[in-house]
Amino acid sequence: MKVGVVGAGLVGATAAYAMVLRGSCSELILTDVDTARATAEAQDIAHASPVTHGTRVSSGPLEDLAGSRVVIVAAGANQQPGESRLELLGRNAEIFRELLPRVAAAAPDAVLLIATNPVDLLTDLTARLLPGRAVLGSGTVLDSARLRWLTAQHAGVDATHVHASVLGEHGDSEVIAWSAVTVGGVPVDAFMTARKRPWTPEIRAQIEADTRGAAAAIIGGKRATYYGIGAALARITERILGDRRAVLTVSVPTPEYGVSLSLPRVVGAAGVLDTIVPALDNAEARALTASADVLRAARSSLAE
Ligand code: 2OP
Repeated sequence: MKVGVVGAGLVGATAAYAMVLRGSCSELILTDVDTARATAEAQDIAHASPVTHGTRVSSGPLEDLAGSRVVIVAAGANQQPGESRLELLGRNAEIFRELLPRVAAAAPDAVLLIATNPVDLLTDLTARLLPGRAVLGSGTVLDSARLRWLTAQHAGVDATHVHASVLGEHGDSEVIAWSAVTVGGVPVDAFMTARKRPWTPEIRAQIEADTRGAAAAIIGGKRATYYGIGAALARITERILGDRRAVLTVSVPTPEYGVSLSLPRVVGAAGVLDTIVPALDNAEARALTASADVLRAARSSLAE
């Protein structure tokens, strides 16, 4: 069970560390244009291996990705305070055009899991560069985790019992699908009533704002986010490696919306196996269409 990580910056290294702590795979290879950085991160992470699950961790050139079942791509620039994810498109698309064909050739059997922002449009680009290849983006798995956590805090329950999906762009136009949120199998409105928790439009608006604004708030405080996304990437990778058929809001090209975006999808060894469009109310459905419009408009700024 070999996994490759391309890009040994904070996101790539944290994903690798999360996988070592969780025992997600038996072998892990880190690669980066900054070879000193990849070597140092691999060594540091390897030192966690003897006290966890014994994962073999190393660094090397792209060729060392051979045999990987999953390759996580976290290479590229990240947001600066005040910058949106979409503003990274030009810079990171250039990197992807050069890098992704080489990654795909080095690891011909790997599912490519894209994490670099703007993740939807880089997933879209990768899928176009590599037709027929299993490609998915981490999409709104992290945003859905943030929504689950915030809703659980309000409900006063364990976040693992909140099922909630953020749809559309992993970014400012993302859509909170309240219609589909359940807690312990009970629709969220009924659950809050039963728990005697206030559940007003203002409270929902605050949870939405905190979900959508989480990355900007964290970047404002420490210039980057990496623990949440690192854990999300480890989880997605495990679900692929174990062919677990997990339902995750990952991003793939979505013909109905003409662009890559997140919807609940069944994820297994081959990548995305199926898509489930939740029952949305009219406002949510309109917001999802608008989110797709934002992504398509941003994509049109890319030179072919
Ligand atoms: C995040 O949402 C910045 O996309 C990154 O944490």
